[in-house]
This record gives sequence, structure tokens and C-alpha cells, in this order.
Amino acid sequence: MTRRIRIFDTTLRDGEQAPRCSMNLGEKVEVARQLEKLGVDVMEAGFPAASPGDLAAVKAVAEAVRSSTVAALCRASRGDIDAGLEALKNAAHPRIHTFIATSPIHMEYKLKMTPDEVLERSIDSVAYARKYCGEVEYSAEDAFRSDPDFVCKVFGEVIKAGATILNIPDTVGYALPVEFGPFVSYIKSHTPGIEKAIISVHCHNDLGLAVANTIAAVQAGADQIECTINGLGERAGNASLEELVMILMTRREYLGIECGIVTPQIYATSRLVSKVTGVRVQPNKAVVGENAFAHEAGIHQHGVLANRATYEIMTPESVGFPSNRMVLGKHSGKHAFDERLKDLGFEPANLAVDELFARFKVLADKKKTVSDRDIEALVVGSTKTVPDTWMLDRWVINSGSTLSSTCTIKLKNKGGEFREEVAVGDGPIDAAFTAIDRIIGKDLDLDSFELGAVTGGEDAQGEATVKVSLNGLQWNGRGLSTDIVEASILAYIAAINSMEWELSAAHGGAARAETTRVAATKESSGV
Ligand code: KIV
Ligand code: ZN
Repeated sequence: MTRRIRIFDTTLRDGEQAPRCSMNLGEKVEVARQLEKLGVDVMEAGFPAASPGDLAAVKAVAEAVRSSTVAALCRASRGDIDAGLEALKNAAHPRIHTFIATSPIHMEYKLKMTPDEVLERSIDSVAYARKYCGEVEYSAEDAFRSDPDFVCKVFGEVIKAGATILNIPDTVGYALPVEFGPFVSYIKSHTPGIEKAIISVHCHNDLGLAVANTIAAVQAGADQIECTINGLGERAGNASLEELVMILMTRREYLGIECGIVTPQIYATSRLVSKVTGVRVQPNKAVVGENAFAHEAGIHQHGVLANRATYEIMTPESVGFPSNRMVLGKHSGKHAFDERLKDLGFEPANLAVDELFARFKVLADKKKTVSDRDIEALVVGSTKTVPDTWMLDRWVINSGSTLSSTCTIKLKNKGGEFREEVAVGDGPIDAAFTAIDRIIGKDLDLDSFELGAVTGGEDAQGEATVKVSLNGLQWNGRGLSTDIVEASILAYIAAINSMEWELSAAHGGAARAETTRVAATKESSGV
């Protein structure tokens, strides 16, 4: 007999809270739609009381998502809960998630509240939220460093006040698996009325134990696990969804636990989150890293060719990992392209396939072989969440070891006007970015710049990711081209377009959510 546990994804809240991981409203909706396709039971969309922008984003996600439950995080205060209720008012399945710390250190130094005050505030918040929302989750922040009997007492009271889900976080990632499992068991057996509630866990990864602790909790009887795509989250992050799900699937016979995740959607979700946050996945990351299914050593390759199970405990296909083989060429037709998209887990009906096909043809002309990876990069990079304020028209660079780099660049703005500038720089990229700054009339800080190749080979597509900032606000951009300088320029323009959109006073929150679309040509493309 297998037990089904619920997957609660908090990429859009805890994940987005991590430094340099912020997403704009359109990006949040795009990720939310993909999370729904992935089959998460619950997605936490944000913290509506944090800012009007957060509230608008949670509202947009709540309106876009129909099958998964959408949760809004609220401190244990009526004001926060009002913001949460407002954000969730159009959700098909809303959940208010309210929290307050219960550990001595948090209560004394952060909250400056006594345990009795924390108890009273917990009861009041849950009772208030439950009046207006059928599902209320209560979290005892820093539960693992709290007195377990105090946690049981608070949980017992909030169950009476209407909490339906009780979350036990290891907020600072301090627990060991041998401690966390018994901690969950203790709470389960000493909380009055707990049989009426769902028990959840939320583990952070400060000591690299978030996934192990979560599995220990599941074995101890947790019904819901909180996690994020690519393990994003505060500090060292949260338990990684893809690792947890593949542990449950690969070790199903031992654990006897299943979940509702559509595993072939895992890789596409990981890539999308990496694209919108601009945070690359480390190559050796379990399940979704570039090397997760690569076999380099001759002896391994020999084994895998004879029987894949010699070195593979799960198949790349089971997580939607694209293969590196040549699949299509410049003579391939639209039908073959559509079929390949379906094989890779994309739904052609949801994409602007004609435009993608046109870009595939351009790529096939430039590259000898077009692999699954190339196609996947085209698709993941093609959806846009902001309109193009600026588009690349053309560029010329003069560079060499004995001369300063000079770039001439011409952009077209959304009004159809062309602007051209020349700049000298410390290398071709610096010259290009300086020329663009002159065109847009802003002096942006380049916070990070990364360049990689989508596949191996001399004709591989270059993939550039940049983070730029202005007055303390930061935006990401990604660019894709067989020319690495062009990929870098496109990434820089994509980040500028996000900035222009965010800073433009003319748009409304709802309008921004509607701008996801596919870019057709280099002229209008950030990829
Ligand atoms: O880490 C934590 O304790 C949290 C809570 C708000 C659930 O993120
Ligand atoms: Zn957390």
C-alpha cells in the first residue's frame, strides 16, 4: 500500500525571496502555469503584505491557476491576512498560510513577545483567517529549535481555532535527519486533535540536509512537503522539489510513498526557473544538472551501452531531460518539428510554433547539427513576459590584442525610431554594453555576466545571462545566439526591456500578466 503525499511548492515565495532571485509579475505567472503543469498540489505565490507589487503578483497567479491550490503567506496579523485574502479572492482553491516564530531566540530577540503572547496571536490570526478562507495553514517558524511541548500546545490551540494544515519548519537548516524524523513523530503523537490536520514540513539547506530531513519527516508521517525548484530559497535554499520527487519515485518500493508530480515536466520547469531568475543550475546538481546523466569515463560509457541500469538509477526521459543527439536538420519539415516539441514535453498548441520554426530554420542553417538541447533552449528562451522597448537592429565590433575594442550598435525602439551609438571599451562586451547605455540614456551597473554553451561543439549556441541594476533594483536578461557577442548583446537588451517595463508608469498590473508571447525575429528577440 502506498501513501500519497502532497507537494507544496514555494519557489514563487521562499525561492523568490533569495537574493538576486526576484521575478516580475509576468515571470511569476509563467512559472505558476508551469508548476501547475508539473502537477504541484499547492503553490505558494508570494507574500501579499510585503508590497503592492507582491499583492498584484499573487492575485495574477491566483487568477491564472485553476487546478493547484494557491497559497499566500501572511504574518500572524489581521492586516497581513486581509492582504492575503484580497490577493486570493479569485483563486479556485485559496489557502492562507500564516506564521509566527515559536523558538525562544526568535520570540525574545525578533518578536519581543512572551510565549503566551505568541500563543494568543496565533489563535487570533488563525481564527480570523478561517472566517474567510476554508484552508488555513499555520507555521511555527523555527519549530525545530522550539520547545517541542510548546509547539504541541500552540498546534493544539490553532487546530481548535480552525487551522487545517500544521507546518513544522527547520527554518535555519539545523536539524539532522536522525533528529528531525523523531521530532515530527513527537509533535504528531503529542498534539491534541492532530488527526484532523495535515502535517507539513519545510526544511532549509544550511547544512545541505534539507532533502534528507524532509525524507526523514515523510517516513515519520508528514503528509505535505514544502520545497522549491532547483532548491532556491533563503540563504542556502530549501529542499529541492526535483530531488525529493525523484527519491520518492526511484525508491518507491522501499518508501511506499507517491505524489502527483508529472516527472517528465521536471527538467522544463527547472530550466524555466533558471531562465527567469538568471540563476544557473550547478552542472553536478542531482536530477537537473547538465552532468546528471552524462557518462564520461570509458568504463561507465561501456557499462551504459551494454545496459543503462549499470550506471543510471533513473532515466533522463523520466525527468524530461533532453538528449544531445542530432534530431533535426535544415531539411526537416514543420511536422517533424512539432513532433519533436511534443517528445520534449512541450505542447505546440501553447507556443507560437510558426515563429519558433522560423528561428529553428535560421539556426539549422548556421549549425551542422541541431540537437534536442538546442530546441529546448529555443523554446525556453522564447516566451517573454515583458514587451520589447528596445530591439537589436545591427552591431559591428572591432577588437584585437593591439587595439581597444570599439562597438557600433543600432537599436530600434518601440516607436519604430532607430538610434545608433559608438563606444570604446575594455573588450568587445564592455564596448557593446557602453554603446547601449548611451542609446538608452542610462548608466546601468552590470552585476553579473555569464556565458555558456547550450551544447558541445565548435558551432554550439552561446547562452548569455546578465543581471543589471539601477538605483538598487535589479533585472535579468538572457540571450541566445550562435555568436557569443550577439548572445551577450541580446541578454543585455532583454534585461533593459524588463527594466523599462518595470519602471514605466504607464502599465497596470493586469496588463503585465498578459504580455507573455513568443518573439519572432532577432529584431524583437531577447533570446
Ligand atoms: O523557513 C521558514 O520558517 C518559512 C516559514 C514562513 C514557513 O519560510
Ligand atoms: Zn523558509
